[in-house]
Amino acid sequence: MANPKEAAGREAAELVEGGMRVGLGTGSTVAFTLAGLGERIAKEGLVMSGVPTSIDTRQRALELGIPLVTLEEVERLDLTIDGADEIDGQFQMIKGGGGALLREKVVASISERVAIVVGRDKVVERLGVSFLLPVEVAPFALPTVARELRGMGCDPVLRLDGPSEPFLTDNANHIFDCRFPGGITDAKALERELASVPGIVESGLFIGLAHTALIGAEDGSVTVTHRGD
Ligand code: A5P
Repeated sequence: MANPKEAAGREAAELVEGGMRVGLGTGSTVAFTLAGLGERIAKEGLVMSGVPTSIDTRQRALELGIPLVTLEEVERLDLTIDGADEIDGQFQMIKGGGGALLREKVVASISERVAIVVGRDKVVERLGVSFLLPVEVAPFALPTVARELRGMGCDPVLRLDGPSEPFLTDNANHIFDCRFPGGITDAKALERELASVPGIVESGLFIGLAHTALIGAEDGSVTVTHRGD
């Protein structure tokens, strides 16, 4: 049996063309993309540069010999390749299971194209039924944001790192993982509502950002679909 994440992640490495500036997502699926890019750079002499979306991805890319640039050096990116925790039929997504949602959304927002790499199990009918929605919060605002989130009908759980320490993102913020009973009915409206709460830095709802999904299966095949297909 093949690894669906590996199949999708490796296939996405083939989307990169010479000279491209590429947003490098975070997670175990994109790790295969990074490995594929490292190989193409070494074997084919592929010329590209990447903007990493996390400290972890930055470290992996450096180890694999992928040249990196910063957001000061690039205004737009040709392509971003990233994973997702859930993706629905409209290419709406929940991201942030690894805590990298803020940088991932910034990078996706300046990309001409965003390709999402997932295993088949990440494709859902409705967001938020099985995966909790990550919401990144400035530490000072944890109590006020928790009250606001409860008012929106969700049950926020502070993400921990170990038995009692709150998880810290790369931006030194915390994360509430939010359970919406029955899932998220209007993801677009919820994203806007969350963005209006002072103290919420970013939510893991990614709406209208993905163009292409590469969906890996257990037999090693990859289905490529485009938004609106
Ligand atoms: C990182 O914060 C997330 O948005 C990841 O992109 C997402 O969790 C996918 O991770 P895996 O590829 O490890 O499943």
